[in-house]
Amino acid sequence: MVSVSIVYDSSFKGQTEVLAKCVLEGVSSVDNIQGHMIHVNDVDEHWNTLHNSEAIIFGSPTYIGGVTAQFKLFIEKLAGEVWLKRMWKNKFAAGFTISAGRSGDKLNCLTDMVIFASQMAMIWVPQHILGGNYSTAGSEKDLNRMAGYLGVMAQGNIDEPADISPPESDKETARMHGRHVAQITAQFIEGQKSLPFQEEAAYDSKGQGRPLTLPELS
Ligand SMILES: Cc1cc2nc3c(=O)[nH]c(=O)nc-3n(C[C@H](O)[C@H](O)[C@H](O)COP(=O)(O)O)c2cc1C
Repeated sequence: MVSVSIVYDSSFKGQTEVLAKCVLEGVSSVDNIQGHMIHVNDVDEHWNTLHNSEAIIFGSPTYIGGVTAQFKLFIEKLAGEVWLKRMWKNKFAAGFTISAGRSGDKLNCLTDMVIFASQMAMIWVPQHILGGNYSTAGSEKDLNRMAGYLGVMAQGNIDEPADISPPESDKETARMHGRHVAQITAQFIEGQKSLPFQEEAAYDSKGQGRPLTLPELS
């Protein structure tokens, strides 16, 4: 089984958790994929699941134009051996966010996630659904109604509970993105069997070209 984990925060109304469940539905709809949903507050109990996942999908509401403090705390925990030993190298990464505003500075939240993934040498999967609600013929019922491509952008009214907001169009966009990431991951894992990854020659047995350790850097 190929493993895909979703690590998310959701603390205000549970609206991001609704999206996380939809992403999981999409992930789980692909044959031979095992999906996992992990709240950032519980991450310390699930490191092995993350290390053994072939893809990790990040989810955070946009708070003050970026990821939440709890989500950033999770990311900073990666700055030890996960970063140093390149433990998540070549895992797939993707992201989703929600905010109350149509913009709400969601792009900055997703950009944060791309940078986190890049620092871990992960491979970012963009949101593939063509942007909706572009014209007079469009509507809030369109898939990808926020017309974002870095990841899933959803919008939840601040005065509505999570069973009403975000709307079905955003939830379906999240499902489709989860399915898309899972399929790409499954293809990559299958492809690696016939074309194994060749490590860089620079990292040879003599240690030449090796990355510096944290003590050497500090
Ligand atoms: C501390 C805080 C900061 C927020 N900052 C923003 C923001 O910058 N832009 C925005 O449009 N909405 C903002 N919101 C609204 C949330 O992004 C929105 O309600 C989101 O759906 C909440 O997700 P959750 O219920 O999973 O926590 C903020 C909400 C909180 C509690």
